[in-house]
Amino acid sequence: MRYDQSDVWAKKHALYSKAYWVNKPNIFAEEVLEYLPQKSRVLDLGSGQGQDSRFFAELNHDVVSLDVSDKALEESRKKLPPDLSERIKLIEADITEPLPFDDGSFDLVYSHLSLHYFDSETTDNILKEIQRVLSTGGVLAFICNSITDPEYGTGKKLEDDYFFIENKPKRFFSVESVRSFANMYFYEILADNNGETYKDSQHGIHNLIRYVGKKS
Ligand SMILES: C[S@@+](CC[C@H](N)C(=O)[O-])C[C@H]1O[C@@H](n2cnc3c(N)ncnc32)[C@H](O)[C@@H]1O
Repeated sequence: MRYDQSDVWAKKHALYSKAYWVNKPNIFAEEVLEYLPQKSRVLDLGSGQGQDSRFFAELNHDVVSLDVSDKALEESRKKLPPDLSERIKLIEADITEPLPFDDGSFDLVYSHLSLHYFDSETTDNILKEIQRVLSTGGVLAFICNSITDPEYGTGKKLEDDYFFIENKPKRFFSVESVRSFANMYFYEILADNNGETYKDSQHGIHNLIRYVGKKS
């Protein structure tokens, strides 16, 4: 089941644009640098207002910043300094559809809090598509909601670990479940629940799921 979330995300991004954390690189983006060779081709999936895309581009990587929300991309575009405009391409696309890239186009697919909105079949398809667009040896790195999140189990249950909460569906992962989704397609480098974000730390949430895997 797919949900049209464009209004929900437009409203969220209007709120996010006032948040202090929206203009600084996320903690996970800095952690991921150790997996990023020089001059990499990076795909930032669900890039929101583009703080991590800009961070990677400032370090000389070529970035495709993809989001479904035109409001997010509009904010991203406003914040794009002219000297980075050659190195960041903004694309409006839905990651539940086939990704609009050739096989092997990227060295890193990065996703910060954007892969936890989908039913299990769609999540599996997205991971399969990520594998397709990564080069051999390329890395997938994402951070997502944990089953230890206080919202877990609230709202209407749609599937195991997947709930419709307030106005959108949300999936929650454990280390075991992230492995069972991602290790189908990637050789695991890291899977733990030690992820932190500025956004969630404000709400006392310090244990997000981090996954890093390589396409072999
Ligand atoms: C929690 S925000 C994270 C944004 C950004 N990565 C950050 O950390 O600030 C989730 C993002 O995923 C995007 N998103 C949600 N569903 C999507 C989809 N089906 N395709 C592409 N992007 C999507 C939303 O528009 C939103 O920008």
